[in-house]
Amino acid sequence: MTDEVAVPFLRIENLSKRFGVFTALRDINLEVRRGEFVCFLGPSGCGKTTLLRAIAGLDFQDEGRIEIGGRDVSRAPPAERDFGIVFQSYALFPNLTVAQNVAYGLVNRRHSRDEINRRVTELLALVGLPDQGKKYPIQLSGGQQQRVALARALATSPGLLLLDEPLSALDAKVRVRLRDEIRALQKRLGVTTIMVTHDQEEALAMADRIVVMNQGVIEQVGDPAEIYRAPATPFVADFVGHMTFLDAVVVGPQRVRVGALELDVADDGLLPAGAPVRLAMRPEDVRTRSITTETPNRFEARVDTISFLGSFCRARLSPTVSPETSIAADFSTNAMRDLGITEGDIRTVAFPPEALRVFAAPTARAS
Ligand SMILES: Nc1ncnc2c1ncn2[C@@H]1O[C@H](COP(=O)(O)OP(=O)(O)OP(=O)(O)O)[C@@H](O)[C@H]1O
Ligand SMILES: [Mg+2]
Repeated sequence: MTDEVAVPFLRIENLSKRFGVFTALRDINLEVRRGEFVCFLGPSGCGKTTLLRAIAGLDFQDEGRIEIGGRDVSRAPPAERDFGIVFQSYALFPNLTVAQNVAYGLVNRRHSRDEINRRVTELLALVGLPDQGKKYPIQLSGGQQQRVALARALATSPGLLLLDEPLSALDAKVRVRLRDEIRALQKRLGVTTIMVTHDQEEALAMADRIVVMNQGVIEQVGDPAEIYRAPATPFVADFVGHMTFLDAVVVGPQRVRVGALELDVADDGLLPAGAPVRLAMRPEDVRTRSITTETPNRFEARVDTISFLGSFCRARLSPTVSPETSIAADFSTNAMRDLGITEGDIRTVAFPPEALRVFAAPTARAS
């Protein structure tokens, strides 16, 4: 017997996939725990679907190994991999009723008609569509069709649920509701789930862990807070959330200079004085309140522009000593009102040293 806790449910080792001369996936290594909800996040074309299809066995990898539930399935056909899958477009059979769609995977498994009917009723209730079994897909909204697709994917109680951008075709409200429902359902069933998305907000809201991909490689794997607060690479920092990047230079231990502005940083990446770096900061980390003479990294800045974004405002600031530097800063509606911030103001602001991330500047390396 394998130890269910210690052994990852899914293990991918040194996986590569090429299409002709183009390398779509390069040396992918990943472990997914039983019951985990993992998101593959990355820009269009980075290889998310290719990796999902390799896991499902719909396309074979050129190199590497895939293990599901402790079994090597690297060369196993899809039918032997115990997964349910939902695609981005509602891939329902248009000529079958909702109930027949959901029953599709069960019919071939020699269940009795009564068993199948009971299971279909149960699944439709599970996805919030009781009494819709007799309808045809075309009579349902996009969100309802994806619920049916989800029910169909779950019909055989698979060990692994694979979702390829299941929400991307839906409008914003339905999307948020369905994402909460999918997450709640996944937790209740405990089914190990991988969801592909290019929507960072969706990944942050839903995932236990996020796998950030870029150009066929994994840039970082971490829980949403790690990915957001401690991005491992400039790519992750830029792709997840909003980030201001500034060219800077290390001037001493935990100290950098941007234009004429010298700043303390909590982590200088152990780079030597003189090293060119990229400094990254989140707009919401720019402080405007409770700044005293003791506050590190405080400076005067001009409020160049303010954009109203509903629940908060995003301002562009330029330090008075370094007006060519432009920094994004988010202010809550409360702060805007209490402090009376307007365009053209000169304000004292501060960067908490621990909120500044230092990346080695890209060098012109031959590779
Ligand atoms: N069958 C194929 N033949 C040739 N190239 C392919 C094939 N499938 C995918 N690719 C290429 O591999 C790369 C990764 O594609 P993939 O579909 O995995 O991207 P993705 O991350 O899912 O993007 P999206 O968010 O747009 O769905 C792309 O550059 C794509 O053009
Ligand atoms: Mg895709």
